[in-house]
Amino acid sequence: MHIIKDSFAVKPGSPLLGETIVPGDKSISHRAVFFSAIAKGRAHIKGWLPAGDTEASFRAALALGVPIERISPTEMIIDGGTLHEPQGALDLVNAGTGIRLLAGIMAGQPFPSVLDGSEQLRRRPMNRIITPLQMMGADIQGQGGFAPLAVNPSQLRGIEYHMPMASAQVKSAILLAGLFAEGKTVIGQPGPARDHTERMLQAMGAKLTCEPETITLEPGNPLTAVDFTVPGDISSAAFLIVAACIIPESHITLTGISLNPTRTGILDVLLEMGADITVEETGLEAGDPVGTITVKHSQLKGVRIGGDVVVRMIDEFPIFMVAALAAEGETYVRDAGELRVKETDRLKVMTKELTKMGAQINETPDGFYVFGPQQLDGAEVYGHDDHRISMSMVVAGLSAIGDSKVIDARCADDSFPGYAKTLQKLGASVVVNHEEQ
Ligand code: S3P
Repeated sequence: MHIIKDSFAVKPGSPLLGETIVPGDKSISHRAVFFSAIAKGRAHIKGWLPAGDTEASFRAALALGVPIERISPTEMIIDGGTLHEPQGALDLVNAGTGIRLLAGIMAGQPFPSVLDGSEQLRRRPMNRIITPLQMMGADIQGQGGFAPLAVNPSQLRGIEYHMPMASAQVKSAILLAGLFAEGKTVIGQPGPARDHTERMLQAMGAKLTCEPETITLEPGNPLTAVDFTVPGDISSAAFLIVAACIIPESHITLTGISLNPTRTGILDVLLEMGADITVEETGLEAGDPVGTITVKHSQLKGVRIGGDVVVRMIDEFPIFMVAALAAEGETYVRDAGELRVKETDRLKVMTKELTKMGAQINETPDGFYVFGPQQLDGAEVYGHDDHRISMSMVVAGLSAIGDSKVIDARCADDSFPGYAKTLQKLGASVVVNHEEQ
């Protein structure tokens, strides 16, 4: 079998200029499909993200017998309410959010299911959802704490559970199981993990109360379908934002971006570093404030970060590392140990790849520190089948001296289809070379 990997050929030297949108939010897109699948009634979803991860969730919903009319890559109508026993395992490919959220839903179904994914997904920890779901009475087994997950029918009961880590995927799995449980479900969270599940379930009629550290779900309110327009993903916008911050003479405007406060840590930190960024709120989509972000190049300054803001920018650390190298002075990150269990160990992999471009990065168990500014040199680097690594390395290449090649870069499509095209439109020289292995 040929595996399509593709590479990006990156030439530095051009500023990023102009206006663009970015694809729909990945977290909201997974949820829009799954929640509409279990809600009674018809949901019309627009602005959906047609990317590797979310398409896996879409296929899982189809395999569960949910009637979905796909109007276009970004638009669909879902007639939810009843799931049916799937034929064969549900393959969530690389989607950690897909498998963990779906596990919560499957735990409450009257039929058995198996949830599986790629080799990469099979290396990601699942005990963080298996343990609380088993406490709720779920019959769910992993393979030594990893996928594939085998789920059998059982009567669930609400629990009070204090999450050991601030994870949106964990609280979502518990809340989704809680919808099918007897009694109330109470979750204690140690930090401000993204709250899309809470906002969307509330919009669909769930009896959910949210306080900063506690979420309570009362049973007995079946979900009712609502229409969603998915806003642009700030995690995708972050690659363009950092690129414009660090590439001289850049000036870009990004419209329709979700400004959900549990996701905007990267903006707060870049502003603290002296970035020239302005944010204007323009409306509300899927319960999130949405707005326009304008970024101009400026000399960044080093920053120390830890605590809650780390949770609010957890997916942005690969690209933040590129920003930190361009900043003057010391940047120190702590409390970011969760990065070691993402698609890859992102602290280790980013350090390894940026080192090939001449960077000096000091990795610590839960973060890193660097002294900048450091001028990177073009190099041949790898994306490691991790979308955010491959997209960050492209931006590193755009800020380097000399050409770069990012090998194994097709995974960018897992969250940002058309990444290279978007950069080209803004004036950057990024060419996709089709490659197979
Ligand atoms: C996500 C939650 C986060 C994030 C991931 C998407 C979600 O993971 O890193 O990319 O949509 O719930 P954790 O819940 O493991 O922190």
